[in-house]
Amino acid sequence: MPLEKYQYISDVWREGIFDNKVVFCTGGAGTICSAQVRAMVHLGANACIIGRNVEKTEKMARDIATARKGAKVLGLGAVDVRKTEALVAAAERCVKELGGIDFVIAGAAGNFLAPIDQLSTNALKSVMDIDVLGSYNTVKATLPYLAESAAKHLTDGKTRPKNGTGGRIIFVSATLHYAGTPLQSHVSIAKAGVDAMSVAIAIEQGPKGITSNVIAPGPIADTEGVARLSKVEGRDKSMKSIPSQRFGTVKEIADATIYLFSDSGNYVNGETIVVDGGQWHTASVD
Ligand code: HXC
Repeated sequence: MPLEKYQYISDVWREGIFDNKVVFCTGGAGTICSAQVRAMVHLGANACIIGRNVEKTEKMARDIATARKGAKVLGLGAVDVRKTEALVAAAERCVKELGGIDFVIAGAAGNFLAPIDQLSTNALKSVMDIDVLGSYNTVKATLPYLAESAAKHLTDGKTRPKNGTGGRIIFVSATLHYAGTPLQSHVSIAKAGVDAMSVAIAIEQGPKGITSNVIAPGPIADTEGVARLSKVEGRDKSMKSIPSQRFGTVKEIADATIYLFSDSGNYVNGETIVVDGGQWHTASVD
């Protein structure tokens, strides 16, 4: 007897799966995070994106809102993730204007290329503060709303109704620290902290229905990260080290995001999804 479709394919990636849900995203005006949010908005969510540059953040919010008729996208600029109270105020504003927070993407990051012997204490601290403290501030400010959202989606404390997820966190990390990357000690130290934070949240907050996972993008086309790396290594050398022989796309990061936030990702918690064409495995291959 043939299998019914639902037995082998998840019927969840379709328009409307995030209807009436809200995603809160730091670093939301950047190339990768804006694509993650755009995909969520396309599939029904409203969004609040956070950035440091007012003009860039508001412009990106208007742009993302065109992904779906009737979408509400709030762009809050001049918010520095290093400032706890700024994040608390941003989360409150999001809840006031959009009605809650169901999903969080902690994506704000700082980076530059520098050898460790030329790195000042303040340079390391700046990146640690943006990546680690900023991600912590983001989760801390939104956790009460995520818990509310998760509680709504737990019917009997164990199961979730179809077409309903909430209380989910994604940290945007990196693969730089898996095998060591020259000129990236500061980011490697910071991203290792972000990865550890995600696991800690997953095990502590899991019983409330909250999930916390990491997406670790490799070299993604048209991003600042790849532009900088290509300056050092040259575009062709960077490309050759990737088993897939190409840079990734922002769509591929958005796909991982939808997976983790949708019903497809219900049982994934405390994990890292590496989206890098297999690159980090080749770090020791010449
Ligand atoms: C050495 C540097 C430096 C550099 C800054 N610093 N740039 N040291 N080499 N190229 C030092 C400064 O001298 C200073 O230390 C300290 O860092 C703080 O610098 P500020 O400019 O005062 O800090 P701030 O304005 O807060 O900027 C933070 C930043 C900056 C991290 C330094 O680059 C930034 O805001 N970046 C945000 C955008 C960004 O980088 N996005 C990319 C993410 S891509 P002293 O001792 O002088 O006071 C990504 C993927 C990467 O993460 C993939 C691989 C490349």
